Amino acid sequence: MVPSKILFVNNIKSALADFFSSNNYTKIGILVDENTEKLCLPSIMNNNEHSDFLILKIKSGEKNKNINSCIKIWDKLTYNKFDRNSLIINLGGGVITDMGGFIAATYKRGIDFINIPTTLLAQVDASVGGKLGIDFNSYKNQIGVFKESKFTFIDTKFLLTLSKRELNSGYAEIIKHCLIKDKSKFNEIYNQKLDKNNWENIIKHSVDIKSIIVKSDLKENGLRKILNFGHTIGHAIESTYMNKEKKLLHGEAIAIGMICESYISYKVKKLKFDELKKISNIIIKIFNPKKVDFFEEIIEKSYQDKKNINNKIKICVLNEIGKCKYDYEINENLIVKSLEYYNKIL
Ligand SMILES: NC(=O)c1ccc[n+]([C@@H]2O[C@H](COP(=O)([O-])OP(=O)(O)OC[C@H]3O[C@@H](n4cnc5c(N)ncnc54)[C@H](O)[C@@H]3O)[C@@H](O)[C@H]2O)c1
Ligand SMILES: [Zn+2]
Repeated sequence: MVPSKILFVNNIKSALADFFSSNNYTKIGILVDENTEKLCLPSIMNNNEHSDFLILKIKSGEKNKNINSCIKIWDKLTYNKFDRNSLIINLGGGVITDMGGFIAATYKRGIDFINIPTTLLAQVDASVGGKLGIDFNSYKNQIGVFKESKFTFIDTKFLLTLSKRELNSGYAEIIKHCLIKDKSKFNEIYNQKLDKNNWENIIKHSVDIKSIIVKSDLKENGLRKILNFGHTIGHAIESTYMNKEKKLLHGEAIAIGMICESYISYKVKKLKFDELKKISNIIIKIFNPKKVDFFEEIIEKSYQDKKNINNKIKICVLNEIGKCKYDYEINENLIVKSLEYYNKIL
C-alpha cells in the first residue's frame, strides 16, 4: 500500500489548495531550479499568486547539491523572516527534494516541507523514504539526515517535459524494484514498450515496494540495503565516469551495475542463466549502453562504497528475480569478470 502521505494527483493546483485549506503557515517558500521554474512552476500556481510564495532558486544539477546552495537558501529564509511555522515546497528532481528536505529539516531545527517530485527518478525513488542530504568534498550524500516530508504529491504530467535520457534514468530504479521484489511485474515490464507505460500504475508499484522496505528498516540497518541492488558497482562506474568526457546519469550507471551484479549472482550459483539473460536483455534494449573501461578505477571506487566494512566489498545478490539478499561479500576478481561479461554481451 502506498503510504497515505504520498498522494497521486491529477490536478496539482487543487491538491495544493486542499492542503492549504487545512494547514496554516506563516510563510511558504518554493525551491526550484531554472528548469523546474520554467517548466513546472506554472502548473502549481497562477501568475497572480506569486506574491503569496517566496521563490527559492538554485542552479540545476548534481554539482550544485552542496553546502553553498544550502547557505544561499538559509540566508534567504532568514532575511525573509521565515519562522518555525513556515513551509518549504520542493519542486524538482532528486537534487531539489534531497537538498530542499535537508534545508528544511535543519533550518531552526526543522520546519515542514512537502515534495512535488518532477522527474521519474524522484517520483519512484528520491522523494520516498526520508533520506535527505547533500554532497561534500566529492563524496555523494555525505552530509544528511533522515526525515519524511509532510506530504509528497505525485503528478505524472510533469514527466511530459522530461528528456528521454532522464526518463530512462528513472526507469532503472523501476526495473530494480521489480528485480528485488516482484518477478511477475518484471515479466510484465519485460514485454512493455516504455512509451506505452501507464506511468501512474508503474510509479505506484515502485513507491509501494520502496515504502514497505523502508517502513521495516528506516535507517538501513538490514533489509533496506536491498534497495542498493546494482548500486555498488553502479556507483563505482558512475563516479569513475564523473571525471571523464562521457558522463553517465545515475540510472544509466545503475543499469550497468545491475547487469554486473546479476552476473555475479549467477556466478555464485544462485541466479539462473536464463534470468541473467532476461535482465541483460531488458537493460540493453532500453539503455543501449556503451562498453565500460577503466576497470582499475571502478574496482578502487567499489571499495569506497558506504556499505563496506573492514575493506571488504559487499553487494546485493539475486537468488532469483524477485528475491534479493544483502551483504554478500565478493572479491574484486568477480567484479572484473562481471565487467568483462557486460562488455562481451553488447
Ligand atoms: N533520497 C533518496 O532516497 C534518493 C534516491 C535516489 C536518488 N537520490 C538523489 O536524486 C538525485 C538525482 O535525481 P534526478 O535524476 O531527479 O536529478 P535532478 O534533480 O538533477 O533532475 C535532473 C534534471 O532534470 C531537470 N528537470 C526536473 N524536472 C523536470 C521536468 N519535469 N521536465 C524537464 N526537466 C526537468 C532538472 O532541472 C535537472 O536538470 C541525486 O542527487 C541522487 O543522489 C536520492
Ligand atoms: Zn539509485
